[in-house]
Amino acid sequence: EVTRLWGGRFAGGPSEALARLSLSTHFDWRLARHDIAGSRAHARVLHTAGLLTGDELAAMLEGLDRLEADVASGSFTPVLADEDVHTALERGFIERVGPELGGRLRAGRSRNDQIATMVRMYLREQARAVAGELLDLASALADQAEANIAVPMPGRTHLQHAQPVLLAHHLLAHAWPLLRDVERLRDWDGRAAVSAYGSGALAGSSLGLDPEAVAAELGFPDSAENSIDGTAARDVVAEFAFVGAMTGVDLSRLAEEIILWATKEFSFAVLDDAFSTGSSIMPQKKNPDVAELARGKSGRLIGDLAGLLGTLKGLPLAYNRDLQEDKEPVFDTVDTLTLLLPAFTGMVATLRFNGERMAELAPQGFSLATDIAEWLVRKRVPFREAHEIAGACVRVCEERGIDLPDLTDADLAGVSPHLDSGVRGVLTVAGSLESRSAKGGTAPARVAEQLERLRSRIAGH
Ligand code: ARG
Repeated sequence: EVTRLWGGRFAGGPSEALARLSLSTHFDWRLARHDIAGSRAHARVLHTAGLLTGDELAAMLEGLDRLEADVASGSFTPVLADEDVHTALERGFIERVGPELGGRLRAGRSRNDQIATMVRMYLREQARAVAGELLDLASALADQAEANIAVPMPGRTHLQHAQPVLLAHHLLAHAWPLLRDVERLRDWDGRAAVSAYGSGALAGSSLGLDPEAVAAELGFPDSAENSIDGTAARDVVAEFAFVGAMTGVDLSRLAEEIILWATKEFSFAVLDDAFSTGSSIMPQKKNPDVAELARGKSGRLIGDLAGLLGTLKGLPLAYNRDLQEDKEPVFDTVDTLTLLLPAFTGMVATLRFNGERMAELAPQGFSLATDIAEWLVRKRVPFREAHEIAGACVRVCEERGIDLPDLTDADLAGVSPHLDSGVRGVLTVAGSLESRSAKGGTAPARVAEQLERLRSRIAGH
């Protein structure tokens, strides 16, 4: 039995049912490269501690190179009896360098500190890739904002027409949360950048191995302060899953709007053929499947986080086998985002907006009523009264089936002595937009500055 890492005290091997239950190679094999990198670093500290001769170290490193090449080419793969990635790789290593040298590599480490380290290494790499995809999406939104910089649209609250805004302002409102998701990944990395190697099974190692040297070789600025925490903590994994779920929610909110915009009723946007699908029965259909899958997959990402937190809740210290259940959810988070983001970015980048329609609808639904109230406030009318007066204008319009700019001087005077023809100056979409000119407002000049700032934040990452 070369394969199992723990045979000595057992009279027989595990039942097949247990072996199948226990098996994790079908998902943790993706950590093989990281595990081999860990083995190299571990071999070096064994040598530094005087536990390997220079020749032995050289032979180990050479064997690990060969093993890595065979893993990469697919000529070495796990078998059922391997239990997990660590076991499989140790078998492969021993097959290559022999049992004498091969049997020395495990000294002073445990699968518990190995897996805790490997999963962090892997997630740190993936976090950088996901952040890159998110920045591409934020850039696509910035490009669309720039291409449609002068297009007004009905801004909504409660999904009702509220006040006119620039489409660019609205699109950028979807870009900022994505940038925060990137920043969340950055912040997360600071906490994830801690190697658990040297923690052993839970108590540390007695062999004089240097955890910080291993950490440095594996790209971690630090190693665990506490070997129990190093092997048992998975908050870092859960936090990654949280950022994934939050990203999914951010995508889903934009997806929902794109789905609405693409309806006949809205007709705000048209999806590119390359990012929409047809119906098997209705020849006319053009469906927003990318957006719908994003909306759907956000539920899955939330499930990954919820499942992981459920696994962790109530686990005593230190390592428990339950912790093996951390991998599938968080790998699913990685895979889902990796699959989704390029399609989502492509959909956003190729969306065509119907600027005319958006502009036409922008002032409808009495969305300029606030502008009347604020015009009155500038004439020293208390806002409570101004609000009532503007509301009365809306009531008159509704009764007569006209819009605010259609009110005659006599209509205005009839509503309030404070109103005169001057108010018509603010009853245009352009005037309304222009007037929201403080930082963060939808005035065209502010939106142009905002776009610049977003672009430089994207470029800074
Ligand atoms: N495969 C395990 C995991 O993913 C690591 C191995 C620890 N196994 C053990 N029996 N201590 O967490």
